[in-house]
Amino acid sequence: MTHISLKVDGTTYEDDVEPRLLLIHYLRDRLGLTGTPIGCDTSNCGTCTVELDGTAVKSCTVLAVQADGSEVTTVQGLAHDGEWTALQRAFHERHALQCGYCTPGMIMAARDLLREHPHPTPDEVRHGLEGNLCRCTGYQNIVQAVLDASEEEVTA
Ligand code: FES
Ligand code: FES
Repeated sequence: MTHISLKVDGTTYEDDVEPRLLLIHYLRDRLGLTGTPIGCDTSNCGTCTVELDGTAVKSCTVLAVQADGSEVTTVQGLAHDGEWTALQRAFHERHALQCGYCTPGMIMAARDLLREHPHPTPDEVRHGLEGNLCRCTGYQNIVQAVLDASEEEVTA
């Protein structure tokens, strides 16, 4: 077992974990933060995307021990006082989802994209989200939602 200390969505956690435990399993199974789904476990789908010290990572590719001392933000940590971020609102308003399974990862990846390209072109949005799969093929509305959100402040 390895002792870790990390902050997740603003709360500090101390835990002893197996060195092989993946961050996604730590978040879901140990902390109960099931808002971040697992889609593939092989780094292909992007549904497990969270932020590690402000950068989007696929949490099925990160060990929990690698997050020791870090700050993790999941989709569950975005809204404040019941207020959605611009991206969350845009996904809702554009109905940029069907089953919703990919949505947490799409939103977290889109935050990363908008930090790098605050005013992206449609092609830059598509390129920025290419690591995230939507099995319902709702890409058009997803791209539009990200473009809408880029008009507003998105990372607050
Ligand atoms: S579950 Fe991590 S990329 Fe699919
Ligand atoms: S909305 Fe179903 S996988 Fe994207």
